[in-house]
Amino acid sequence: MNKKFYITSAISYPNGAPHIGHAYEFVCADAIARFKRLDGFDVRFQIGTDVHGQKMWQTARHLGISVRQLSDQNSDVFQKMADIFSISYDRFIRTSDLDHHTASQSIWNTLMKNGDIYKNVYSGWYSVLDESYYEEHETYRDNNGIRFGLQDTPVEWIEEESYFFRLSSYGDKLLRFYEENPDFIAPKIRRNEIISFVKGGLKDLSISRTTFDWGIKVPGDQAHIMYVWLDALTNYITGVGYPYSDSPLWSYWPADVHIIGKDIIRFHAVYWPAFLMSAGIELPKKIYAHGHLLKNSQKISKSSRNGVDPIEMIDLYGVDPLRYFLLRNIRFGSDGNYTHEEIVNQTNAGLSNNFGNLAQRSLSMVFKSLDGKFSESGLPNLQDTILLELSDTMLSKCREQVDLYQPNVALDVIWSVLDETNRYFNEQAPWNLKKKDKERMGTVLYVTSEVVRQVAILSQAFLPDSATRCLDQLNIPRNERSFAHLGIKSRLSRDTIIEKPKGLFPRFLATVYD
Ligand code: ME8
Ligand code: MG
Repeated sequence: MNKKFYITSAISYPNGAPHIGHAYEFVCADAIARFKRLDGFDVRFQIGTDVHGQKMWQTARHLGISVRQLSDQNSDVFQKMADIFSISYDRFIRTSDLDHHTASQSIWNTLMKNGDIYKNVYSGWYSVLDESYYEEHETYRDNNGIRFGLQDTPVEWIEEESYFFRLSSYGDKLLRFYEENPDFIAPKIRRNEIISFVKGGLKDLSISRTTFDWGIKVPGDQAHIMYVWLDALTNYITGVGYPYSDSPLWSYWPADVHIIGKDIIRFHAVYWPAFLMSAGIELPKKIYAHGHLLKNSQKISKSSRNGVDPIEMIDLYGVDPLRYFLLRNIRFGSDGNYTHEEIVNQTNAGLSNNFGNLAQRSLSMVFKSLDGKFSESGLPNLQDTILLELSDTMLSKCREQVDLYQPNVALDVIWSVLDETNRYFNEQAPWNLKKKDKERMGTVLYVTSEVVRQVAILSQAFLPDSATRCLDQLNIPRNERSFAHLGIKSRLSRDTIIEKPKGLFPRFLATVYD
């Protein structure tokens, strides 16, 4: 049995169309999921939409459509975007799914049975945009007297009857858990933020609402719907069969990682573990919070309407160039500003001028000068061996970086080998060898093609479509494309006959679109 790996992204509110920040999260989680699959893990990857709550309910009222319609329409758009970006999810969950209602009511009943839920009255600040309660000291007033919360979204005062979760009794348990599991919250900056938040003291959490009715009913009390975050977080266990521990999917729990944005770390690193502790369910192994995609240094968001339509960006650049840009040029965990000019420059440099050019130059020589075959190549010399050995180190170095959730550094590793191989190719100048020493030319082309093969196998995690096309041109059998086929034990077969190579990546004009 292969080792299991369960990875999730956050589930997005479908209160508007997705923006490039959502695509960013999907792409990063997808790269990790694909990498693990290629590396022999039995991966389960879940993404989806979070359809309940006041924000959805209000948005639908403003638009004059039913909230069900808003939720269904925009969930479709999110799912379509995921498909366009080649996101290899196993399940696209919507919190309107029936099994999710069962799971949410079931966890509610368990928390209740364990004595962690009681009824009282909530009064305090609430941000509809964040679906979050804030303490007075977490809010501020702007010059116009409007009050905002921690994430700079407006808050309103609410006062209503509510069920509460005894979060206050989990502070010490959480702190002990963070202490014993130092890698639970990553990166470090988020861990420190959460530890100081919990040390500041936890209040009981209001977990139901009564002033609107778009959500999952509280069992046994029709007047209340569950607080959207209790329902939303539960999606991660719904997807693996909760509450049925005899479900074959349940063996994927605990999740290996929840990939989320830094704005929702508190929900994932404080509330979610506390709910799970109360319910007696194992905690996920890691919460990894990535940074925000910024436009002119502003967070891109649905509500500030500065969102760039990801589908339009795909029309401009294509899927893999955009994936490459998002994965390589933003340090995972930090915020990233981007401009169209940068996308054009970076993808031209990394894809068409580097990977694409190397593959095109070497494979078209194999095709033209060697009839597409490697049979005439000789024994490798020292330089060849050094390059092949360097290329053989890529897998372990990439694996280490992916396990640290640094896909950008994994790409740096691959691209440094590409740089080296381009240098080698220019130095060896196989085009000069055709008449002088055809066998040596064959060797140089074989060595270069072998590096291209290894790069393409690894790149399947990041640039699935282009990497597949490259492996198709090399005629690598479908069942020889996993990471088990990297390294000295599994070289490019000298019996290979390659296809006529076609350019892998477009070259963009340096037009500035902004
Ligand atoms: O928070 N850059 O949904 P959401 C990078 N439903 N990531 C961004 C981003 C940006 N500019 N804007 C948003 C929610 N995101 C909840 C989650 S999980 C049980 C419930 C990320 O639609 C954001 O950080 O507001 C989050 O991880 C995801 O997109 C969905 O955001
Ligand atoms: Mg948000």
